[in-house]
Amino acid sequence: MNHSSRQFDLIVFGATSFVGEILCRYLCNQYGTDGEVKWAAAGRSPEKLEKLRSSLGTGASSLPLLTADAGDESSLNSLCEQTRVIVSTVGPYALYGEPLVKVCAATGTDYCDLTGEVQWVERMITRYQGQAGKTGARIVPSCGFDSIPSDMGVWHLQNAARARFGQPCETIRMRVKAMRGGASGGTVASMLNITKEASKSPELRKALANPYLICPQGHGFKTRQHNVTLPEFDPDSKQWAAPFIMAGINTRVVHRSNALSGKAYGENFRYDESMLMGRGTSGRLKATGFVLGLGAFLAGAAIKPARWMMENFILPKPGEGPDPEAQARGFYDIRFYGRTVDGDTIHTKVTGDRDPGYGSTSKILAQAALSLAFDITKEEKGGGFWTTATVFDQRFIERLEKNAGLTFSVLESGKQSS
Ligand SMILES: NC(=O)c1ccc[n+]([C@@H]2O[C@H](COP(=O)([O-])OP(=O)(O)OC[C@H]3O[C@@H](n4cnc5c(N)ncnc54)[C@H](OP(=O)(O)O)[C@@H]3O)[C@@H](O)[C@H]2O)c1
Repeated sequence: MNHSSRQFDLIVFGATSFVGEILCRYLCNQYGTDGEVKWAAAGRSPEKLEKLRSSLGTGASSLPLLTADAGDESSLNSLCEQTRVIVSTVGPYALYGEPLVKVCAATGTDYCDLTGEVQWVERMITRYQGQAGKTGARIVPSCGFDSIPSDMGVWHLQNAARARFGQPCETIRMRVKAMRGGASGGTVASMLNITKEASKSPELRKALANPYLICPQGHGFKTRQHNVTLPEFDPDSKQWAAPFIMAGINTRVVHRSNALSGKAYGENFRYDESMLMGRGTSGRLKATGFVLGLGAFLAGAAIKPARWMMENFILPKPGEGPDPEAQARGFYDIRFYGRTVDGDTIHTKVTGDRDPGYGSTSKILAQAALSLAFDITKEEKGGGFWTTATVFDQRFIERLEKNAGLTFSVLESGKQSS
């Protein structure tokens, strides 16, 4: 069926997941169910979908509900034939995600998700890039807190650098200045799954350590990338920094954006991410405490009995996560410090007005799907695996600022006098 004549603009698959439910509520509040955005909610359980629709209030009584199972290609095919874009919140993606990507690639259906599982993204690119290119399916992984603030934040900084200095920055350091939010069962399940897989496979550990893992073959990048794994002093902010847990996916996505854009950030582009923990001795102690805590979590997740204890007694279970008040209290403030090869400097900021993982993620995921459906034509950007910074443009930043509570700003810039 012709892509443009499909019944829906978007279908939320995994609507009954923790994040899917917040996403449906946001779409409902923002666009209604009978308005200009034609959308439907899909999942594997008709009963849970009915319950979700009732919880959205009387305004949602006409929301179409569709049933499909992540493992059943014919049910996924029937979803895809009805929509221009499909948003998937069915995770862990490494366990459940492949059949939908396969069907989207076969049917020319645009796709966005929330994966942070870089090894899975690499596998999907290898298997389905060719077919997506032929059918026109635009596949855009990692459209949540990982990795949109990083990927679009770097894109925004580089545009500002080009406008001021006539060249992009060769080095960018992303620093999480402040952030408040919790984790859901789905996110925890994805993290535990990747740690479990990595503990069994030296090849996977090697792949995860490759900063250019998802760059296209023959990318030619040789620059060694800095990886913040221990407490370290950050000269830009003059604070102590600790590892940022999302850096493993975000940095890979940013390097793919550089590769897909014809090295728009440069052949020797360097990028790292970390979390600021404060100044002086107290900042140093906090950074050290964080590194020790993270080490204990990862060690526990790699050992079967400890993982079982964590899954069953400590961490949130699938379907659980921060409550609406905690989501509303959440926020993030991320800083980017860029430097050109000539020594010009620029400092930018990206902020979000809800907890990063859910309140903010659901809004930015919705806007990514809407931008694919309404802003970016198939003639502008054809089929294949894209990053947000390469498929989207300023229109997406405007959407995020207008409808998703994000801000992108330049704080200061300094030209090196010659
Ligand atoms: N990138 C980011 O910033 C970010 C932020 C948040 C979450 N995430 C990711 O998003 C994903 C969802 O997180 P969550 O906390 O919302 O997860 P969750 O509440 O555990 O939900 C998982 C969903 O998958 C569905 N599912 C499982 N097997 C299925 C199957 N065979 N067919 C159809 N549906 C199936 C479940 O359906 P039922 O409802 O019927 O059980 C449920 O709706 C995770 O992978 C998480 O890591 C990423």
